[in-house]
Amino acid sequence: MKKIDMGGTVLATVANEMILVLDFGGQYNQLIARRVRENHVYCEVHPHTLALEKIRDMAPKGIILTGGPNSVYGEEAVLCSEELFRMGIPVLGICYGSQLMAHLLGGEVKKAPVSEYGKTEVEVADRNSKLFQKVSDRTICWMSHTDYIAGMPEGFRVTAKTPNCPVAAMEREEDKLYALQFHPEVMHTVEGMKMLSAFVYEVCGCKGDWKMDSFVRTTVEQLKSRIGDGKALCALSGGVDSSVAAVLLSKAIGKQLSCVFVDHGLLRKDEGDQVEAVFGHNGAYDVNFIRVNAKNRFYEKLKGVTEPERKRKLIGEEFIRVFEEEAKKIGAVDYLVQGTIYPDVIESGLGKSAVIKSHHNVGGLPDFVDFKEIVEPLRLLFKDEVRAAGRELGLPDYLVNRQPFPGPGLGIRIIGEVTEEKVKIVQEADAIYREEVAKAGADKQLGQYFAALTNMRSVGVMGDGRTYDYAIALRAVMTGDFMTAESAQLPWEVLQRTTSRIVNEVKGVNRVLYDCTGKPPATIEFE
Ligand code: XMP
Repeated sequence: MKKIDMGGTVLATVANEMILVLDFGGQYNQLIARRVRENHVYCEVHPHTLALEKIRDMAPKGIILTGGPNSVYGEEAVLCSEELFRMGIPVLGICYGSQLMAHLLGGEVKKAPVSEYGKTEVEVADRNSKLFQKVSDRTICWMSHTDYIAGMPEGFRVTAKTPNCPVAAMEREEDKLYALQFHPEVMHTVEGMKMLSAFVYEVCGCKGDWKMDSFVRTTVEQLKSRIGDGKALCALSGGVDSSVAAVLLSKAIGKQLSCVFVDHGLLRKDEGDQVEAVFGHNGAYDVNFIRVNAKNRFYEKLKGVTEPERKRKLIGEEFIRVFEEEAKKIGAVDYLVQGTIYPDVIESGLGKSAVIKSHHNVGGLPDFVDFKEIVEPLRLLFKDEVRAAGRELGLPDYLVNRQPFPGPGLGIRIIGEVTEEKVKIVQEADAIYREEVAKAGADKQLGQYFAALTNMRSVGVMGDGRTYDYAIALRAVMTGDFMTAESAQLPWEVLQRTTSRIVNEVKGVNRVLYDCTGKPPATIEFE
């Protein structure tokens, strides 16, 4: 099976300009790329080992060297060729990247007498620097370093400093070499965007041609000529990535695309119908939409199963079985469409995790269904760009802004055995909760929020009678990366209104609890 790598071709036609980020192991490498793209300039992250000939072929308008955990003088130092600075391409070194520039060009890097960490006031020392033209004389920047540039290479001048860091920024303008000891890409650097924008536009001379409308147009054209009259299959989960991928393909090849949407009976309230309304036969897209209502077979499989991992496995396996059956019915499909996005590509060392992500999303795809090629039209995009492309393609807001929803669905939000009755309870409670949170306008700040059904029943009183019913747990977390999360402080009125509606409107629930646990020690989902 071969992947259609849209990378090079998109680059040639959608964006004529590119900034190359060379990754030295810093934690913010993706963020740098995102910030550059927010400036409408296309940007790619590559390992620092990228060969010079490759770089020449790519012809980037500028290169950014990221931070990293090492010391340039240590045995474990990760270096690049000094030649990089002589290619006539502007270079911006950030943190470790700035030290590397100093070190390789003959300056001196040492352990700093005082290491700086956190928000630090930086003084602009040279108002002529292109990077600082629009920046205040004194500005708060995010520092995180134990080494510093003790001696600059020949021809460089200091452009910013702090009391503990005499070279917080330096440059050799005639060679377009710039170095920042701090991190302009993080929000804590108040005027960091101005600096990055100045590098990209004033130093590198970019015009800003990375726009979602042209991405959509060009990608559709490329898919058309690539797939021709072949058949493609997209496993549609209703999440934003697979939805946007499906729409791009549908614009390109229409009815030659089959979207298989498996309704496993573990979706949120009305979710299956919403997906069908968009992609089904009366929807806006000319695709061959196949909704498989498979809830009974999933419930059957899950009967009596309480162990979370077992539940996950069973749901994943059953999904594969349904998918295989459908793929076989369609027959002779050459292309498999996946909604892989750029963070998956970067994290896996460019390309390896594509399949893993998709497995994760849809619960597993069969390995042995024979596809000639995998099509990944979103593999260059960050999540916010995928959403922008979705808007550009006219997808409804509720699909574009949809919060992440796990492949195993409500199966892992019902603690213990899954039954149809429990699914109904959690669907209703969750719908009320989402409605109330959205009504209060609190949804925009939350990473994820949902209701789960605990396996606990307790005594209550309703009217004049005793009840012995389930407890619903409400969860809301703030998170950017979903690896860690904090429990959100939702307004009390929202929680009270939600509670009162749930116990009144959802039969079988007499108690509502709010989960105050962060991740770690808990996870976001309950199972
Ligand atoms: P946890 O519970 O591990 O969740 O803190 C982190 C994020 O991953 C999502 N999640 C999944 N997504 N398939 C998915 O597509 C899964 O099996 C799965 N399990 C967890 C979860 O919703 C949260 O956003």
